Amino acid sequence: MSRCLLLVYGFILFFITRGHLLGVKGEIKNYYIVFLSDQSVNKESKANTHISLLSALKGSELDAKKAHVYSYTKSFNAFAAKLSESEARDLSGMDGVQSVILNQYRKLHTTRSWDFIGFPQTARRKKLESDVIIGVMDTGITPQSESFNDNGFGPPPAKWKGSCHHFANFSGCNNKLIGAKYFKLDGNPDPGDILSPVDTDGHGTHTSSTAAGSPVHNAELFGLAKGTARGAVPSARVAMYKVCWASSGCSDMDLLAGFDAAIHDGVDIISISIGGLTGAYTSDTMSVASFHAMNKGILTVASAGNDGPSLGSVTNHAPWLLTVAASGIDRGFQSKVVLGNGKTLTGIGINGFNPKQKLYPITSGADVAINSESQESAGFCLENTLDPSKVKGKLVECKLGTWGSDSVIKGLGGVGTIIESEVFLDTPMIFMAPATMVNSTAGEIISKYIHSTRSPSAVIHKSEQVKVSAPFVATFSSRGPNPGTKHVLKPDIAAPGVDILAAYTPLHTLTGLQGDTQYSKFTIMSGTSMACPHVAGTAAYVKSFHPNWSPAAIKSAIMTSARPMSSRVNQNAELDYGVGQLNPRRAVSPGLIYDMDSMSYVQFLCHEGYDGSSIATLIGSKSKIDCASLLPPLVSEDAINYPTMQLTLKKKKGITTGIFRRSVTNVGHDKSIYNANIRAPKGVNITVEPTTLSFSHASQRRSFKVTVSANFNVSKKLVVSGSLIWRSCCNIVRSPIVVVNPQYES
Ligand SMILES: *[C@@H]1O[C@H](CO)[C@@H](O)[C@H](O)[C@H]1NC(C)=O
Ligand SMILES: *[C@@H]1O[C@H](CO)[C@@H](O)[C@H](O)[C@H]1NC(C)=O
Ligand SMILES: *[C@@H]1O[C@H](CO)[C@@H](O)[C@H](O)[C@H]1NC(C)=O
Ligand SMILES: *[C@@H]1O[C@H](CO)[C@@H](O)[C@H](O)[C@H]1NC(C)=O
Repeated sequence: MSRCLLLVYGFILFFITRGHLLGVKGEIKNYYIVFLSDQSVNKESKANTHISLLSALKGSELDAKKAHVYSYTKSFNAFAAKLSESEARDLSGMDGVQSVILNQYRKLHTTRSWDFIGFPQTARRKKLESDVIIGVMDTGITPQSESFNDNGFGPPPAKWKGSCHHFANFSGCNNKLIGAKYFKLDGNPDPGDILSPVDTDGHGTHTSSTAAGSPVHNAELFGLAKGTARGAVPSARVAMYKVCWASSGCSDMDLLAGFDAAIHDGVDIISISIGGLTGAYTSDTMSVASFHAMNKGILTVASAGNDGPSLGSVTNHAPWLLTVAASGIDRGFQSKVVLGNGKTLTGIGINGFNPKQKLYPITSGADVAINSESQESAGFCLENTLDPSKVKGKLVECKLGTWGSDSVIKGLGGVGTIIESEVFLDTPMIFMAPATMVNSTAGEIISKYIHSTRSPSAVIHKSEQVKVSAPFVATFSSRGPNPGTKHVLKPDIAAPGVDILAAYTPLHTLTGLQGDTQYSKFTIMSGTSMACPHVAGTAAYVKSFHPNWSPAAIKSAIMTSARPMSSRVNQNAELDYGVGQLNPRRAVSPGLIYDMDSMSYVQFLCHEGYDGSSIATLIGSKSKIDCASLLPPLVSEDAINYPTMQLTLKKKKGITTGIFRRSVTNVGHDKSIYNANIRAPKGVNITVEPTTLSFSHASQRRSFKVTVSANFNVSKKLVVSGSLIWRSCCNIVRSPIVVVNPQYES
């Protein structure tokens, strides 16, 4: 069973493909993004340089203009062009060219959720909240949604330089939704989408309203999840940058254009629920673009990905990104299944249909195959494998093969589907026809019953909301260890991402499946895509209290104040949830922060072995970075002032020791004393020096050193976790210390 197929439904999938174009001589041309080394020149001369470079490459200005696609001139000095592979190679050797990156396509990856994490509507707020602007890169937005009503809003803050216009099927902006742009640089029409910032998918409307939606009372879906839907910062402003398209996905070219605009327009926080690639930090568009944003004081919050529970599946793992895993809240959706013999079972899922009859005949997919060859596929209720005459009027029991068996059964005239599965039982999905998902124990009971009587019957009831134990990291949420570097723990944090109710588009049915006729102003979605805007909204909340904090400071505040999660419930501990569950109220007064500027990240990259010229792309410097002069030869753990610490043990070696030099800045009471509190797991030695930090005034910085050592046979587990807590009268500043044992990675 392919994971891609599993994700089609509910999480929204865009396949990663490359846009191949045939050039004149039949040579394959692709889109490339070309970064230039000198970022300091003005807009016009940037654009001129782009054309002259291409002219030099192609031999004529006319050909140059044909190949030129877009100039990124606001916040970057880069351009996109249609080139052959050999042209791309030639270009990368030309003077002034920093790097040439192949354009690739990425996939996209609330009522109760805020209360569940202890962030009620009545939480204290700053007036400045209305000066904070969240830029969202996504599938577009629904301007008429009540979540973006601007009742009581004044004009946009003076710093705002963005814009919004009337576009096709897009009525325009207001004082809540203050900006909307779309980017579709390949110029090809997208079937199923509209060249406009309008959201034909629903994903962008959902994420934007989770981050900063105005409160909407009595929001619900099928009477479920009823309550007041609201964003983290209901008074903050939203700007949408549509970079994802219904059929072509989200291309790097468009993503970079979105960042170029957002940075220039003056957004404060960027929320991006789009898949990452696994390229180097200096050549991955998301990583490069978000570095520029960070350099301009903008924190980028990104989703960790939906490729869990596989280890090492976390994406968007650059150290300057805030990477978000998805956790479940204490609300589940279940349906009763009653069999003809009176037995009642429980299935999960969001099924909005009340049965019209007391019981319906039931059969098993495998028993109603079109022919004997398709019997196995029929067990999964795949398309074109079932005999319609034997499905009509019946409930059908299927194994989970791909999403959408409810649509297949409905298409054949069936009355409902019982899906048997051993996975995704923590993620209730919306069905387009009567259906529910049961575990294999219940599946076996149903199967036995079907084969034990001549006319078996059953019924699926409408879903009900139930309380479930939480929080837990969702199965689909991508896991560490960080494939980009052994020295930074990822994901950073977990936030609610299972069954989140938020605003939706009228241009898409609830499931997108064939035959679905259900529409709703609000819908329930799951994914790290939904977790990300919870954290982006919280970052905006912190920013409204501390407008001058750096991106690293905001990130540190959010991370050190998180609630620990259970390593018994989540077997890979921090590799599942990072620091734990988001805790917005505490994030505004962290006491101490682990601050960093761009140079700290540059030092880190030098330590990681990146060469000076590739680092120059990141920071937009003309001259390459001289790593040797920047750094004394330290071990890498030293090189970054990160709020978590990860020691990766050396394989088959005795004791590995890591030294973590960190410094914290006092943002709490002027005079304060913090004492170190260490929790070391069995077999791991952790010491901190000094063990007391005293501050006499605000903004004072204090350094300390943490030494962690463990034997490679410390435990038979991938992760053992400890922590360092700095505790004062009034603050708890917690950093997980994680020892990763690569022996157990597979
Ligand atoms: C978009 O607007 C055009 C023109 O008003 C209309 O014909 C079309 O149906 C609209 N598309 C959608 C998806 O609403
Ligand atoms: C399977 O589902 C049934 C409810 O129908 C529940 O009672 C049982 O505990 C579940 N089994 C497992 C292994 O989760
Ligand atoms: C781990 O290995 C060391 C040798 O490197 C050995 O002395 C120690 O007893 C081992 N510990 C366990 C728990 O196996
Ligand atoms: C931990 O410290 C103890 C006491 O100093 C020492 O005997 C032991 O070897 C250390 N273990 C590791 C893994 O460093």
